[in-house]
Amino acid sequence: MTMINYIKYGFRWTIHSKTKDGIRKSKIEIAKNPKRFEIINFLLEQFKRETTYLEIGVRNPNHNFNKINADSKHSVDPGVEFKSNPVDFQLTSDAFFEALSTGKILTSDTRFDVIFIDGLHLAAQVDLDISNAFKFLKPDGFVVLHDCNPPTEWHAREDYYFNMTPAKGYWNGTTWKAFVKWRSNSEVQSCCIDTDWGIGILSKTAAIGGSIEGSNPFFEYDIFANDRKKYLNLIDFDQLKDKLLSS
Ligand SMILES: C[S@@+](CC[C@H](N)C(=O)[O-])C[C@H]1O[C@@H](n2cnc3c(N)ncnc32)[C@H](O)[C@@H]1O
Repeated sequence: MTMINYIKYGFRWTIHSKTKDGIRKSKIEIAKNPKRFEIINFLLEQFKRETTYLEIGVRNPNHNFNKINADSKHSVDPGVEFKSNPVDFQLTSDAFFEALSTGKILTSDTRFDVIFIDGLHLAAQVDLDISNAFKFLKPDGFVVLHDCNPPTEWHAREDYYFNMTPAKGYWNGTTWKAFVKWRSNSEVQSCCIDTDWGIGILSKTAAIGGSIEGSNPFFEYDIFANDRKKYLNLIDFDQLKDKLLSS
């Protein structure tokens, strides 16, 4: 590429409406409150008993794990993004659940009150993580997912490492697809709190939101984005409190 093209295309990218839109939407999302640990702590407070918490995908524990208030906490991460990786189990989620189910770690009858899934953000992996999480969740427990509400298709790209998009380094991956898939399961109640890139919540007992009919069979981003209130049951934190405190 000649120098003139290099400058021309770089400049066009910088001033393109999609680039500006992506940058603007990242800023809006970052400014939202509450953050994920406040929602998780609220859910844990609902149990009037000793609580057990599991986090899948931790990175720097100061950002979330260390802010969680539970009587017993466990952390799982293979250490892809944070070299020191100070977690209980330096494993992928698949390896962790396999070892848990065979009693090689903890005990096979271990059950958690809240499991926070924030590991590999690709739909097939998140779907499997949700499935495994329900096997080790107490009957009235919550599965919580980060990054369910990507503000643009660039935030919802599959490749974490390619950041020359309007989302720059921000990445929600395709977690939204797994969450939307579980929202069509009639045995599961669900909602997504509109903050911190979308905090998805799944429960088998709490009345937080009924299932939806599948109407986006190919999980196309634009169809999802144009009706995200429906696909995610997108609500704010006060609405979640109303639902849980009134039930
Ligand atoms: C977005 S970060 C987690 C952020 C953290 N939960 C927080 O709230 O600040 C994603 C983490 O998932 C980890 N990860 C990647 N693949 C994984 C897998 N297969 N199983 C579990 N964790 C994985 C990465 O190493 C990374 O530390």
